[in-house]
Amino acid sequence: MNDLVEKYQREFCYLLGIKQAFAFWKGRVALYAILKALGIGEGDEVIVPGYTCVMDVNPIKYLRAKPIYVDIEPYTFNINVSLLQDKITPNTKAVIAQHTYGYPCDMDAITNITAKNNIPVIEDCCLALGSQYKGKTVGTFGEAAYFSFQWNKPYTTGLGGMAITSDVQLARKIESLQANKGCWPSSKEILMLWAQLIVYRLFVYPKTTALAQRLFRYLTKKGTVVGSSSTSEFEPTMASDFFKGISNVQARSGLRQLMKIEQNIAHRKKMAERYDQLLKQNGWKGREYDRSVIEPVMVRYPVRIAEKDRALSEAAKAGIELGSWFECPLHPIETPLASYDYEEGMCPEAEKASKEVVNLPLHPRVDDATAKRTVEFIIRFTEVQ
Ligand SMILES: Cc1ncc(COP(=O)(O)O)c(C=O)c1O
Repeated sequence: MNDLVEKYQREFCYLLGIKQAFAFWKGRVALYAILKALGIGEGDEVIVPGYTCVMDVNPIKYLRAKPIYVDIEPYTFNINVSLLQDKITPNTKAVIAQHTYGYPCDMDAITNITAKNNIPVIEDCCLALGSQYKGKTVGTFGEAAYFSFQWNKPYTTGLGGMAITSDVQLARKIESLQANKGCWPSSKEILMLWAQLIVYRLFVYPKTTALAQRLFRYLTKKGTVVGSSSTSEFEPTMASDFFKGISNVQARSGLRQLMKIEQNIAHRKKMAERYDQLLKQNGWKGREYDRSVIEPVMVRYPVRIAEKDRALSEAAKAGIELGSWFECPLHPIETPLASYDYEEGMCPEAEKASKEVVNLPLHPRVDDATAKRTVEFIIRFTEVQ
């Protein structure tokens, strides 16, 4: 562990008011370390929402455990807690509480159930850095939590992940896994990631995002750039170079992002309110959540529309940054769901949301004019109530 990475981990702890954080190459690697530190293995079951990124499910499969899917509730897209107890069996060894789009899960309800059953909760905070539940930051309710700093996340270091826990014994196990990680990223990967970060900061703006994403996907398939996921990660078998540590490029970039984190969070909150206002002015619903309980810091602003595919293709042509995750219960869509123990119909609300939800950008490059353009574009479609 070098000084730069230690400093990054310390600053991250400072941000959340916690004591221990462990940086990794990606968020999914951080999750893998947590699951392994919890001793999860063959025959164990891990509960996950049926509306997630398949990269979140991979670490469970890598450890030969079984993902058990719970449907979501339609407004916050988070795990439907009323369905949770019925999914718990003697084999359940963890529940992953994913704070989707930035909306915190109902942590009291979840931890009531898990405490009764003596099951640890892992919070997936990849989309929710800074969100609060009952005045406390997400990531501090479960036994452990993890964060991602991939391109679309609350702040980006290109790729990046962080595992946190307040449990001292668990922390020592994660620390030892971090010290004995499988490998380092290669110098070619690090150099390329550094170049990609520069290109991103110089050229990727709401109007150029769709084009940049198409180019990025094309170059990823060709193996020219460091993609968010390698080809091997679209299969539930762990590649030999999966378990990687963090590079100095990521740590340095993370430290820079943390210096601006308060402005980033304030901006996201302000722009989400702005979308609420602009959408409501046009007769749309805006966000629905209990403001006395949660204070979300949204990573993106979800809306439900009819004709999602048409909206996405027209947005790309018009230079409107419209996001589309999750496109299936285990995003991205190419993944054969059966190899992840998911059967169609298991999570009807999640499947419905996958067909209807697009998301509007909230990152620091979104200004008022962009928000207005985005809303002018989206209201040409029909909102699904
Ligand atoms: C909710 C969620 N959790 C975890 C991850 C995995 O994060 P990373 O790409 O850093 O491995 C993703 C996808 O990027 C995600 O959307």
